[in-house]
Amino acid sequence: MTNLVEMRGIEKRFPGVHALKAVQFDLRPGEVHALMGENGAGKSTLMKIMSGIYARDEGEMFVDGNPVTPDGPRAAQDLGIGIIHQELSLMNDLTAAQNVLIGREPRRRFGRLDEAALNAKTAEIFASLNLKMDPRTQVSTQTIARQQLIEIAKALSYSPRVLIMDEPTAALNDAEINELFKVIDKLKADGVGIVYISHRMDEIKRIADRVTILRDGAYIDTVEAADTPLSTIIQLMVGREVTQNAPDIPDTSVSPVALEVRNLSRGKEVRDVSFDVRKGEILGFAGLMGAGRTEVARIIFGADPRDRGEIFVDGQSVDIRTPNTAVQAGIGYLSEDRKHFGLAVDMTVRANIAMADLGRFAGKTGVLNETAMERVAKEYIDRLGIRTPSDTQEVRFLSGGNQQKVVIAKWLLRDCDVLIFDEPTRGIDIGAKSEIYSLLEDLAAQGRAIIVISSELPEVMRLSHRIAVMCEGRLTGILPGGAETTQEQIMELATQRDPALAGAEETL
Ligand SMILES: Nc1ncnc2c1ncn2[C@@H]1O[C@H](COP(=O)(O)OP(=O)(O)OP(=O)(O)O)[C@@H](O)[C@H]1O
Ligand SMILES: [Mg+2]
Repeated sequence: MTNLVEMRGIEKRFPGVHALKAVQFDLRPGEVHALMGENGAGKSTLMKIMSGIYARDEGEMFVDGNPVTPDGPRAAQDLGIGIIHQELSLMNDLTAAQNVLIGREPRRRFGRLDEAALNAKTAEIFASLNLKMDPRTQVSTQTIARQQLIEIAKALSYSPRVLIMDEPTAALNDAEINELFKVIDKLKADGVGIVYISHRMDEIKRIADRVTILRDGAYIDTVEAADTPLSTIIQLMVGREVTQNAPDIPDTSVSPVALEVRNLSRGKEVRDVSFDVRKGEILGFAGLMGAGRTEVARIIFGADPRDRGEIFVDGQSVDIRTPNTAVQAGIGYLSEDRKHFGLAVDMTVRANIAMADLGRFAGKTGVLNETAMERVAKEYIDRLGIRTPSDTQEVRFLSGGNQQKVVIAKWLLRDCDVLIFDEPTRGIDIGAKSEIYSLLEDLAAQGRAIIVISSELPEVMRLSHRIAVMCEGRLTGILPGGAETTQEQIMELATQRDPALAGAEETL
């Protein structure tokens, strides 16, 4: 059987980075081929070469056995190669349908846009994705997860024979992931070859047929997913064994309360939420997507207004109306939407990290102490394994996961008493995850109060001293952390709907 695509001896260099070293990759019709490797290993770069976005420096590429050199995304599309990018590339001010069929809008006579056809065609693709969305919806009003689904619809609109998915599930919840996997099954049955990139190890076993592993830009191996244990794949990725020991949970019941939230309410999204976090404590927030966890964080951080409720810091009632007032009250928030907050991509890694706490680096005269900034930047580059040729590299040249590590470093450095981390390890490779966990633990040990929102249950369970669980805007319970609590107990609370609400909907 001829391969759909075959790549051999692919080389790619960027200034200061040998991104791909003699890499090979092939894709068969009807298979899901996972491409794995740590942040910066070269996954996105290889796929950008396959999809005509970057030119290879050396090497060969074949489609259906014929040598090809796609010199742009259009040329790759003509070869049947489509890509769903790691970074969302939608036009925020356009509607969903305008984005899905951008550049190929159906037209009437005299070139007038055929709105009805545009929306109908998009609705059809949405239906195949089981996505309930009006094609006329403006993209900017949608959550990142739903924007990701629009992006997927856009790729499918080209009816590709080869579909590259670069971390398609990073922002999706379990139900949405299941829908996506159904679509993948359908595409496989139609003979489409799929390249699948993800840092979520559990997904690999579920959908991959084969796995190719890259490390530091080098090709390591291609293995059959069914007969390769995950531990082997991880070891091939990181080149060493990764151990994760759950630490002892400190007794913080005697520490003073750092943050107290009483009866926080906002529309249907947050209903009467009350809890507190003590100094030195890590409070995890579990729940299904849409449970209201991010919404609670955004209200506490002053990013969204509240209808009702009080917030106390160190026992003092604080009137938080904007993120600025929150920061002044000592509250920091690492948002789940990294792209819009937190990074100056045209500035260096060093500047971005130091920006978190300029006061620390400014001398009496206000002149920044570059040596101190360099030292701190290098420490975090080292600890988080940020892959960059130097601390003076501009952030935009870093891989997706490494950019996130820079954002995280910034927040870890910030001098806040209360730190809220929303999905801190999304898109982060497995080796760096455990380092982020220990940095969060260090912060707690210094007496900070930490809130971690995470959709990955093992992560919440691994990190939290206590676990708050939400369902449909309500806090349905707080469970102890550590081995005492099981996934089942969390899931029970995460799906515990308000009987009054559930009843009301059924009678509608
Ligand atoms: N346009 C560019 N200019 C300079 N360096 C780049 C550019 N694109 C990628 N790199 C570098 O090439 C290397 C590989 O990056 P790539 O984006 O392929 O990694 P990745 O495996 O996709 O990682 P992640 O899991 O974080 O997305 C990284 O060191 C990155 O900084
Ligand atoms: Mg990438």
